[in-house]
Amino acid sequence: MWRIRSFLSHRLGWDQYLKPFMEKPLPANLSWTVTFGSLLVLLFIVQAATGIVLAMYYNPSPDHAYQAIAFITGEVSWGRILRGIHHYGASTMVVLVFTHMLVSFFNGAYKPPRELTWVTGVCLFLLTLGFGFTGYLLPWDQKAYWATVVGTNIPRQFPIIGKWITRILLAGDTVSGLTLTRFYAIHTLLLPALASMCIGIHIYLVRIHGISEPVSSSPMPAKPCMESEYRFFPEHLARASIVFTIVFSVVLLLAVFVDIPIEDVAGTLDPDYQPRPEWYFMWLFQLLTFFSGKLEIVGSLLIPIGGIFLLISLPFISRSTYRNPADRPVEIAAGVAVLAGILYLGITGVANSRPYGETVSIADRSLTESETAGLTIFVEKECAYCHQILGRGGRRQGPDLSNMVAKDRTGDELVRFIKDPQAVSAWSIMPKYDLDEKELEALADFILSLDFSRYDVKTVSREDVLNGTIK
Ligand code: HEC
Repeated sequence: MWRIRSFLSHRLGWDQYLKPFMEKPLPANLSWTVTFGSLLVLLFIVQAATGIVLAMYYNPSPDHAYQAIAFITGEVSWGRILRGIHHYGASTMVVLVFTHMLVSFFNGAYKPPRELTWVTGVCLFLLTLGFGFTGYLLPWDQKAYWATVVGTNIPRQFPIIGKWITRILLAGDTVSGLTLTRFYAIHTLLLPALASMCIGIHIYLVRIHGISEPVSSSPMPAKPCMESEYRFFPEHLARASIVFTIVFSVVLLLAVFVDIPIEDVAGTLDPDYQPRPEWYFMWLFQLLTFFSGKLEIVGSLLIPIGGIFLLISLPFISRSTYRNPADRPVEIAAGVAVLAGILYLGITGVANSRPYGETVSIADRSLTESETAGLTIFVEKECAYCHQILGRGGRRQGPDLSNMVAKDRTGDELVRFIKDPQAVSAWSIMPKYDLDEKELEALADFILSLDFSRYDVKTVSREDVLNGTIK
């Protein structure tokens, strides 16, 4: 027994490397929030493990993905729970990564010498969002499809290379089966590899520069106190395991008792359809609605990219070594303002995502055949996902279509725009539609019929439109 131990200990370099790593003393008066790092590593392992099992049953093709998810949920033993853990685990990770980052921000844990620890942390935050975004498409249902359409159209607004970024993301011009396999590969191969690497570097940096010790109002002491009996193993890991057990129990309870909402397969028509991005992207989508036309690029690119840039460069911008929040009012105020903005956008975003497109406002007169055909296409293609008519019936992503007459748009202009929005306005996030000339003209006729300076408004239900029963 002893000989095996001594063999392993020698071959693995226990005394020299592993023991100092495992038993590294930490400052004794750390608060529990410091366990978040270890907690996240444990959760990452849970995501990897459940992800591997899910991948055994999943099939990344438009014809089978949706059924594969139904199969996992309905047939595979423990499948529903495994998927639940993976699903709610992902949301939990986003919350905790964000909290971990907030705590580090308010504690000034990014201050020298921990600049790179912070930078790798920001990378991990972005990778977590990347996992969320790519994973969202995999069930291949309506909301997966639409979130991907809107999300991947955002980089298109980037001058010159934007179109290529979107093409590379989508593997073409639209969301298709190739997009699905691409996202699947990124989700299961690329991101895990990048994340593991980043986690390794992050932990290494935390080790050489130490966990940031509790804040005192003086500039940082040069050396953390080393005499404590609080070591990484077993004391710190024990604490982290307690927190992990609590968090994991919550995830497990959610997985067992709260079914994951699944919508119709991508491309289905459903009057009750209510698409939305995953909740943690909601604030970003909401930000988009504040800017339109040429200014769209501000909401979709300048603010997010500026934000990321600011996050990464934070430790290099704010160089004072004061870590106590009271000593750095400007940083703290800025942080609180950003946080409040994100919360505000997120909450109004959720409030805004109520059902849409159940009714359409049209002119109160009998429509021509072409206008009726246009109305039907408007409903079938879910244009209301982004367009309101007279401030009603849709979401506010694009301009209100009742304004087209006032803007003196001609039928030709509308046809040209809807046929290929990016050809007219390179920054547009409006997707391209595969419609023939006649359908495009019908849509244009319908939009031009929305002349409410001449006609009263009539509201028709979506169902009547689809059944062809409007008068
Ligand atoms: C994903 C969101 C989205 C969807 C879905 C969408 N649009 Fe748009 N649309 C926009 C945005 C954003 C604009 C503003 C364009 C810009 O950036 O200049 C726009 C602009 C327009 C314009 C205005 C052009 C102008 O001349 O001002 C028309 C017309 C239009 N859309 C029609 C449609 C029709 C018809 C559909 C359904 C077949 C549709 N849109 C679906 C987002 C969308």
